[in-house]
Amino acid sequence: MANLNDAPIGVFDSGIGGLTVLNALRQALPQESFVYLADTARIPYGTKSREAVIQYAQQICSQFIRHHRIKALVIACNTASAHALTTLQQEFTDIPVLGVIVPGATAAVHTTRNKHIAVIATEGAVRSRAYEAAIATLDKSIRVSSQACQLLVSLVEEGWLEGDITDRIIQRYLEPLFNGSNTPDTLVLGCTHFPLLKSRIENYLGKNVSVVDSASNVAKEVFNLLEQRQLLSTVHSKPTQFLVTDSPQRFIATASIFLGESLDESRVQHISV
Ligand code: DGL
Repeated sequence: MANLNDAPIGVFDSGIGGLTVLNALRQALPQESFVYLADTARIPYGTKSREAVIQYAQQICSQFIRHHRIKALVIACNTASAHALTTLQQEFTDIPVLGVIVPGATAAVHTTRNKHIAVIATEGAVRSRAYEAAIATLDKSIRVSSQACQLLVSLVEEGWLEGDITDRIIQRYLEPLFNGSNTPDTLVLGCTHFPLLKSRIENYLGKNVSVVDSASNVAKEVFNLLEQRQLLSTVHSKPTQFLVTDSPQRFIATASIFLGESLDESRVQHISV
């Protein structure tokens, strides 16, 4: 049987948002191979119940283990991390399973000076209060203000990363968080789709607010974990394999633009989980 070190790392999200995490992983771990699954048949996760998202995550993790023999799993989705991380860690004990909430919360806690952090995320992730819990574990004195911004997921999936309508929707969601006195000095992009809108969000907020996300901290965490477990790859990486649960065409069009590499049908496989 092939060496486990040379097995791929599984990464999943409901759609293209997790590619923001995949990019950071590929940069930080150039020797590693990845399998990326976009659960496009069931996007959005943010409006689904906790039970449904846990079930999707379990199915995806089983699929990765059965068909791809992954050596680690990265839940590149805040909603699935909020709802399903603990369940997956308890059920799939043979591989390390990592989420994105603690790395995002850590980035924000290290950035804030006025101890007031804003979090934007999906409806489900905001409802779970996972960021509040993660930030309180790191520093109880920090105040957290959250806002669900579900429509931003659709804008990203649609490829509407700029333009008047996108700017107006961003303003509509962010205005209540940054109005008045003692407003947050740090904003966490608590959905992996949102870094694709980062320049428009920064443009709205101006220089006094730092915008952070989880991607680079997730990559560091994965590197440390593989190193500790002596699981770093010993061979050159293979091209990332992409899996989708609905037709590949839509994913190929948006993901190619974002990744800056042309994906063709041979690299994107349609699967059922
Ligand atoms: N990208 C996901 C997240 O980080 C999910 C977006 C959605 O499917 O609603 O929460």
